[in-house]
Amino acid sequence: MSKEAAALNFPKEAKEIYNKYLKYNVSSESFLFGKGTGAFTENKWVWVPLSKDTYTSGEIIKDQGDKVTVRTKENEEVAVLKTKLDYINPPKFDGVEDCAQLSHLNEAAVLHNLKKRYDADIIYTYSGLFLVVLNPYKRLPIYNPEIVEIYKGKRKNEMAPHVFAISDAAYRSMLNDRLNQSILITGESGAGKTENTKKVIQYMASIAGRVGGGGKLEEQVLQANPILESFGNAKTTRNNNSSRFGKFIEIQFNTAGFIAGASIISYLLEKSRVVRQAQNERTFHIFYQVCNGVSGDLRKTLKLDEPSKFNFINKSGCYTVKGIDDKDEFAATLKAMDIMAFTSKEKEDVLHVVAGILHLGNVQFEVSFGEGSAVNNRTAIEAAADVLGIDVAKLDLGLCKPRIKAGNEFVQTHLNVEKAAYSREALSKALYHRLFLWIVKKINDQLAQDKKSSFIGVLDISGFGTIFFLWKMF
Ligand SMILES: Nc1ncnc2c1ncn2[C@@H]1O[C@H](COP(=O)(O)OP(=O)(O)O)[C@@H](O)[C@H]1O
Ligand SMILES: [Mg+2]
Repeated sequence: MSKEAAALNFPKEAKEIYNKYLKYNVSSESFLFGKGTGAFTENKWVWVPLSKDTYTSGEIIKDQGDKVTVRTKENEEVAVLKTKLDYINPPKFDGVEDCAQLSHLNEAAVLHNLKKRYDADIIYTYSGLFLVVLNPYKRLPIYNPEIVEIYKGKRKNEMAPHVFAISDAAYRSMLNDRLNQSILITGESGAGKTENTKKVIQYMASIAGRVGGGGKLEEQVLQANPILESFGNAKTTRNNNSSRFGKFIEIQFNTAGFIAGASIISYLLEKSRVVRQAQNERTFHIFYQVCNGVSGDLRKTLKLDEPSKFNFINKSGCYTVKGIDDKDEFAATLKAMDIMAFTSKEKEDVLHVVAGILHLGNVQFEVSFGEGSAVNNRTAIEAAADVLGIDVAKLDLGLCKPRIKAGNEFVQTHLNVEKAAYSREALSKALYHRLFLWIVKKINDQLAQDKKSSFIGVLDISGFGTIFFLWKMF
């Protein structure tokens, strides 16, 4: 069935969304230079490079061997080397769904095509086997259930580009070829990786939900994310909800093709953020959630205060994020933990670790015993020990006078102020890292339910650098 014919059969609401936000409508009016499609002359209209990654369009008006004179869109005449120019594609290629179809395939043409589509609110475009996604920075109705419905079971070339089409193709290939599939989502920070990862999971949960399961497992698979984001995401200058770890999510299916569970592998949590953040950035969301959201007796037990009172988080000049209410988010985190079957005791223990780290950050040292150090503020170390449930004398010794292994023996050292502060930070980072790994394990235990027969993996990780790093690691 052709795309146009398929679209005719969509339910009304789905059709409207599809035609507005997914299917590019070629406008016959203007093409380039506002000249209209009729004026186009093949091999005369060219892209002229301005600087790195930017181009203007123009028309060749004089050919002088190696060079040509081009009249640009801005009505300037410039002499350009022929080798620096790229041809503009004929109007029929305007806004094509797959950049690989462009008859003149060059960087300017690809950027132009993506821009044309983006200007029309269309964020998905294919480039051969890849799906290119641009961040719309606004909510589009393209992930509604009725859109899931129209992508279900369709071939990739029957439908406009969408992460659902990629997801569906992976699902069908897994069932038909009986082979595990993987989707790699990469790009720079703030590009939309995590949002699209979530859409893949949402799609799988809705098309491959178990019959009679009541949706519990599917709900759990979806609720893993809010927990991971509270503990692993932070506000940066580029993204208010930036993932500070990489993750590989395996969505598992049984022989009948229904979701059987999921598992998550996390990579490279940015531990240093626990103790230090760049200006205008925050540490992991959970710290502000705990400071703002914990109330009543537990607030007293954890000796909580506002974020500005804690040294690990009060140096970067940023406590709040536009559009994020930490108190509401805290409630959502707890709810997600309930769905994930964390017990009350486990939830409380987690909060003890988070608060304990904040108190550790307030422990200060002064010069003592000659070159050595001593804690100069009993309140902070007592709070830390109490909240973490450890012996304060041992914590004190561990920070200022740790025993280290020298050869076959343990000897007691006496750290100077700088080194004691460093050990306080190292301890805090290690505690948080273990907490994070424990949470991931807890989620995995809960999501490992049925026997899996195959899986679709989704890798959400920024930058090719990291991918090569991981590749070398395996
Ligand atoms: N498809 C989308 N629809 C709506 N908003 C989006 C979309 N993709 C990204 N965003 C917005 O951009 C922000 C950053 O996206 P995110 O997926 O966290 O980036 P990345 O994981 O690549 O760093 C999101 O918090 C969201 O506000
Ligand atoms: Mg992310």
